[in-house]
Amino acid sequence: MIVLGIESSCDETAAALVEDGRRVLSSVIASQVEEHKIYGGVVPEIASRRHSEAIVAVTRQALDQAGKTLNQVDAIAVTYAPGLIGALLVGLNFAKALALSAGLPLVPVHHLRGHIAANYLSHPGLEPPFLCLVVSGGHSHIVAVEDYTRLRVLGRTRDDAAGEAFDKAARAMGIPYPGGVELDRLAEEGNPGAFPLPRPRVDGSPLDFSFSGLKTAVLNLLHNAAQRGEKVNIPDLCASYRQAVVGCLVENFRGAGEQTGIGTLAAAGGVSANRLLRRELEKLGKDTGKPLFLPQLNLCGDNGAMIAAQGYYEYQAGHQAGMELNAYAQREIGLDASVNLPCAKTSRF
Ligand code: KG4
Ligand code: ZN
Repeated sequence: MIVLGIESSCDETAAALVEDGRRVLSSVIASQVEEHKIYGGVVPEIASRRHSEAIVAVTRQALDQAGKTLNQVDAIAVTYAPGLIGALLVGLNFAKALALSAGLPLVPVHHLRGHIAANYLSHPGLEPPFLCLVVSGGHSHIVAVEDYTRLRVLGRTRDDAAGEAFDKAARAMGIPYPGGVELDRLAEEGNPGAFPLPRPRVDGSPLDFSFSGLKTAVLNLLHNAAQRGEKVNIPDLCASYRQAVVGCLVENFRGAGEQTGIGTLAAAGGVSANRLLRRELEKLGKDTGKPLFLPQLNLCGDNGAMIAAQGYYEYQAGHQAGMELNAYAQREIGLDASVNLPCAKTSRF
């Protein structure tokens, strides 16, 4: 079964063709990051406009690269939540129009479920159940993936997401958006013990995260140094900060593993590209004797292939949407795509 996946939840317009949820036939990504860089973050209206301009060409290219026509596609999967609402609506309405005109099933995919599915593309042998650390620009969750479409959140951030925490601290250090990538690179040259930083914990919820205090500690440190006219060694600060963020992530993930006894570990989302996080998770896998799966680096960030992969499993589970499908800025990863959504059976087309 060939699924066309469409993704437009943030600042990447992406389309891809995936066979049987596992084999990438093509993947095209048009990134807007250079344009948003000028503003230090994603400007929602600009994102929507660029998606509108790019989406047809990106999809056409995905079909061409795979050597397929729309007639050879079996279903259209699209990110319907969570994300920037104006950005989501561009991909969603385009996918609807395409599904309607080609007479194909429309499959709604939760963006974070898509990130998790990047692992199915990277590791043909990986099957649920597994425990997944989902860390992106907007979310940080510890998820029990009980089945392809049955997911349970065990821990989540109470404030900033891990990617957001990296980007905000990077910005304070003068590193351009999206700073997480560059902060990670600079941290490789720094001393992680140079600046003692807190490891915030959430009282009574050992699997939840809180990163805003850590970010504030960095802002205060930079502010105090500027007032004293002292120069801060940025690679050292990057290394110390990265160590603290990754420490929190891995400690809670270890705790979730012990608590649930789930025997397989995985990570997903843009932050799963972080070098230290990958090393620490590898170590956790070795320490606990649990197999660890990490997405290929080119599948960590937003892409259409992960949406097509998850779309395949959603379709198998009977999760389709009708032409009334809406986009949602926020939606629980654990909710099935068919819950409270207009489903195909009630569709008027
Ligand atoms: O999953 P993603 O591509 O988009 C969202 O769904 O949010 O994640 C983007 C986030 C950004 O915050 C970016 O700075 C962060 O992932 N990121 C990294 C690294 N690569 C991307 N953060 C830390 N280290 C990295 N190597
Ligand atoms: Zn994402």
